[in-house]
Amino acid sequence: MSWTKVLAVEALSPGTREVVKVGNRKILVLNHENQLYAVDNNCPHLKLPLKSGKITESGAIVCTFHRSAFDLRTGEVQGWCSWPPGVGKVLSLVSQPKTLPVFPIRVEEGSIWVDVQEE
Ligand code: FES
Repeated sequence: MSWTKVLAVEALSPGTREVVKVGNRKILVLNHENQLYAVDNNCPHLKLPLKSGKITESGAIVCTFHRSAFDLRTGEVQGWCSWPPGVGKVLSLVSQPKTLPVFPIRVEEGSIWVDVQEE
């Protein structure tokens, strides 16, 4: 375990999100319906930032860039980007669906802590 204090609890009201740096990772910490989540801010598809992604009713974050979607609790792929016809077969060889890294998160003494392992 490698717990790091990242934010004050009051800095993350429901519906808000912040990107924090822990070691060499950028972690997206978000408060969705009063539940806290910590996920890698780099989308597993092309490593573009997930920060502005919408959250679905089922609790998945959808990447703004190519619409891949990941369960906030587990990081499981809920949808992977679809490429235009004709390039799909080629790009699918280098773009297999990958799980989004998610991290344990807790609140203690008025602060939010995340457990992030180095890459
Ligand atoms: S970078 Fe997120 S789906 Fe492509």
